[in-house]
Parts: sequence; C-alpha cells; structure tokens
Amino acid sequence: MGTTEALVEAALTQADVPGALALSAKVGWNQTAHDWRLFIAHGRTIGLFDQEAGLIATAAALPYDNGFGYISMVIVDPEWRRRGLARRLMGECIATLRGMGRAALLDATPAGALVYRGLGFVELATMERWEGEGGGAAQIGSAAERLMPDDLDKIVEADALAFGSQRHFLLEDFLARPGTTAWTHDGGYLVMRQGHRAAQIGPLVASSTDAARPLLATALAHARGRVFLDLFTSWPKLAALLEASGFMRQRPYMRMALDRATLPGDLRRLAIAAGPEFG
Ligand SMILES: CC(C)(COP(=O)(O)OP(=O)(O)OC[C@H]1O[C@@H](n2cnc3c(N)ncnc32)[C@H](O)[C@@H]1OP(=O)(O)O)[C@@H](O)C(=O)NCCC(=O)NCCS
Repeated sequence: MGTTEALVEAALTQADVPGALALSAKVGWNQTAHDWRLFIAHGRTIGLFDQEAGLIATAAALPYDNGFGYISMVIVDPEWRRRGLARRLMGECIATLRGMGRAALLDATPAGALVYRGLGFVELATMERWEGEGGGAAQIGSAAERLMPDDLDKIVEADALAFGSQRHFLLEDFLARPGTTAWTHDGGYLVMRQGHRAAQIGPLVASSTDAARPLLATALAHARGRVFLDLFTSWPKLAALLEASGFMRQRPYMRMALDRATLPGDLRRLAIAAGPEFG
C-alpha cells in the first residue's frame, strides 16, 4: 500500500465510473453506474487515486437550487481508513458548496456521523433504512395510478414543496432508467428504481399518511426481490405497514446540516428519501 502523501486527487470523469462502482459495491452500497454518472454530470465528484490500487476514496458535492446542496458518496476503502482521507475530501466538498453560496446537507450512516460531527454538522432528522422482499404488501382499499415519464411535470412541484428545491434533473433521470416504475395518488408520488443490490423505493411524497399508504402498498405489491427504502421516523404508520409486509430495519441515517439550523422543504410531505446520496 502506498502513502497518503503519494495519493493523487482528481475530479472524477465518466471514465472513472467502473472504478467508483467497484468501490461502492465493495462497501455494500446500492448505487448503480447511473447514480455515479449523475453525480459526475451534475455535481463535483472527487476521488483519491493510489498508483497501484487505483481509486481508493470518493466524495461528491451535488448543488441544488434554493441555497443548499448535498454531500454524499463519502467512501474510503477499508485498507485506507483512519488516516484523515474522509475528513480531507469532506473539507473540499464543503468548500465547493460554500463557494457556490450553498449550505451543506447530508444523510449520514452511523460511521459517517462520527466524521461529520467533528466537522460541525448537526443532526436535524432521522430516517431508517428498511429492507424486505417485494410482493407482500398488506391489502389496502385503493391502488395508486402508474406515472409515465411524460407526467414528470406533475410531480416536480409536489417534490419541490416536500424536499425544498426543484429536482427536475434528478426525477427525469430516475424515470428514464430501465427498470424504474412510478405511481401517483392524491397529488403525491412514489418512484421505485433498480439499485445495485436491491430495488430502491424513493422518493415518496404525499400530503398525509392516508395519501401515502396506497402509494407505498402498491409499490410493495409490485416489487419483486429485495427492496430497500429510507423512511423518516416521523411517519410511524408507514413503518407499521412495512412491518406488516415483513420488512426489517437495517440501519439508521441521520439527516445533518452545516451552515443552517433547519431543513429545507416540509418533512410532513417527504416520507421516503430519494436515497441518502440524493436527499
Ligand atoms: C466513514 C468513512 C468514510 C470514514 O473514512 P476515514 O478516512 O476512515 O475517516 P477519517 O480518517 O477522515 O476520520 C476523521 C475522524 O472521524 C472519526 N472517525 C472516523 N472513523 C471512525 C471510527 N471507525 N470510529 C470512531 N471515530 C471515527 C474520528 O474522529 C476521525 O478522526 P481521528 O482519526 O483523528 O480520530 C469510512 O469509514 C467508510 O468509507 N465507511 C463506509 C462508508 C460510509 O459509511 N460512508 C459514510 C457515508 S455517510
């Protein structure tokens, strides 16, 4: 193994996607090549390269409108940990967002929170990652309607109200991917996309639990194989639906912020995150 001084830092390009995917898969994450391509195209995604081992650490800053951005994909190869590499890459991502006049938000794994607290990030909300098998949703009265890629404009405004920024590019990318299915109901919507290890449900945006239940139940009934989703703990009735469908809690995520004291958007409308990498 080389020294940290000999590591070369560079902005990732589309040519680095296979190496980045190998790193996220190595630590058991669900991101796909689509996700990495999106970060590289829309954000600043940086990596540290060792002459022999190749890409050994990554981090991404993804700016959104409305004064904030997301930091994510903070991964350090297990052989290179506890040598300050995550702190170094985080410093660059924070500087990138500050340079664009944006506060930094992120969704931290328990491992990540150890690094971020030391940098001044404060926890503002909690999610739980749920994991289970599709096809086993509890029965509910009404089903949600399928959303087509042409219906994008119908959900962008509802999403912006819930998340706090207009994410047209992200939702358009999700809906265009092979294997994505989306539904709408009562002004809300849900997207389910294919991940590297499991189908990923999110975002789920709805104005109430009653409006959210048909969306979640329809997606669970439709899903096949392993499913992951990140539910805010402020939606206990949806947690009960997941339990009734045989889902289990896998790990918590903390939504944290630096340079702002409140979350953007409205968590009474955002039930399931797009994913910890996108907010
Ligand atoms: C989280 C992760 C990125 C940390 O990378 P790293 O390069 O080892 O972190 P750093 O060396 O920069 O650590 C910075 C500080 O964070 C804290 N920290 C990091 N890892 C820690 C651990 N395992 N236990 C306790 N504190 C820890 C320490 O305060 C550390 O400073 P110190 O070493 O001077 O005490 C790495 O463990 C990882 O890739 N984990 C799997 C993926 C993941 O969960 N990423 C976070 C997503 S939100």
